[in-house]
Amino acid sequence: MTQHLPTGEQLTFGAATASYQIEGATTADGRGVSIWDTFAATPGATRDGKDGSVACDSYHRYTEDADLVAGLGVDYYRFSVAWPRVMPAGTGAVEERGLDYYDRLVDALLERGVTPTGTFYHWDLPQALEDKGGWLERDTALAFVDYALAVHERLGDRVKVWATHNEPWCAAYLGYAAGVHAPGRREGGQAHRAAHHLMLSHGLVAQALHEAGNRDVGIVLNLAPIWPEPGTPAEAADGVDAVRNRVWLDPLVDGEYDAGLLRVAPELADPDLVRDGDLALIRGSADWLGINYYTPVRPGPVVPTPDGEERHPETDAYPGVPPVTFHVREPRTHIGWEVESSGLEELLVETHRRTGLPLMVTENGAAYADQTWVDGPDGRHVDDQDRVAYLRDHIAATERAREAGADVRGYIVWTLLDNFEWAEGYTKYFGIVHVDPDTQDRTPKASYRWLQERLRG
Ligand code: FCB
Repeated sequence: MTQHLPTGEQLTFGAATASYQIEGATTADGRGVSIWDTFAATPGATRDGKDGSVACDSYHRYTEDADLVAGLGVDYYRFSVAWPRVMPAGTGAVEERGLDYYDRLVDALLERGVTPTGTFYHWDLPQALEDKGGWLERDTALAFVDYALAVHERLGDRVKVWATHNEPWCAAYLGYAAGVHAPGRREGGQAHRAAHHLMLSHGLVAQALHEAGNRDVGIVLNLAPIWPEPGTPAEAADGVDAVRNRVWLDPLVDGEYDAGLLRVAPELADPDLVRDGDLALIRGSADWLGINYYTPVRPGPVVPTPDGEERHPETDAYPGVPPVTFHVREPRTHIGWEVESSGLEELLVETHRRTGLPLMVTENGAAYADQTWVDGPDGRHVDDQDRVAYLRDHIAATERAREAGADVRGYIVWTLLDNFEWAEGYTKYFGIVHVDPDTQDRTPKASYRWLQERLRG
């Protein structure tokens, strides 16, 4: 296994996690406060009122986790770096002890024959930067470059494949419009400013890494197939597509924000926001594209209710888009997301056609209630046959997309461990390994064993 982006001769496999969801140890070794520490401490912000202060304690148990990844038999492990561990105040002084942790993690993986791939930003912005306006401010994009370069300087000799951002749609629109993710702001169309600054920061970091000789810089997007229900107004369906997909793809591929997007996001026509050279910088800046897929998006027409309430809560995450409803068909996972593997196939084929870029499925997986425990040769474990079926069908969809010509290099399962699932707290389990919240004992589920067998061929 090369340390660079896989060549794609055959589909390769990985497992993913994210810093705030698994590390815990949020005050260890000089780590600064992140927006997720602050947000999760806000009453009502997470379903169970819990936060990531302990999570899976991977900060201390990373060797055990590296053993699990190696035992699974995957080629690589996708982890993210916590900005507040590396630059506690968001800018300025580097906390070497924070970098030491990732250094140890990377070495632990390499020693076990697993290739580490890093993500610079999986949503844990230093609170100090949010206090100055967060992603609504251009300075945050500039600060991101210094942070990413500090990480790259320390790890870049061993970690070659980098993603700048994970799901900037969530960071911008769930964070600054819907307010259901950190920093929990409900600023409507201002969230489009966050989207631009996230993309700008991607472009700046890609440029800096390219200058440092790296040609494996990507970005991870939660693009979605948009499947309008009958009767959905065309402008509404187009608006959903624009805010979910095109706001990222258009600047990356064409170096522009298109007319349909500007209709719903007039903020992006502001020359003080989108400055000369920004779009040219972003265009062509990604060497590969990561796609996180869980479920299709089905906008539907608004049905007036007796009290005239027409607004659908998810509409808040699509500021400027004409009112729509969002439909979710059966079957659904425990988090309420529709299971439809053909959406992944379509998305991969379509995104490859649109971008021509090498693709990685950087996340795919499912939350299930995991109530069934059985005895097996290795002891008691969760018998998550529903998750096995989900993974099997989505890996098959990925293979079909490859057969249809999409250049998909890898499939990375979300996620290694049951962990802190953002606003859902510890109530939704996506792990292929069960984690006991009291003892931190890790127990591979049937899905882990299934994937292990599949990889053994
Ligand atoms: C994605 C996130 C990831 C995880 C999964 C379920 O949106 O990137 O951290 O929470 O959803």
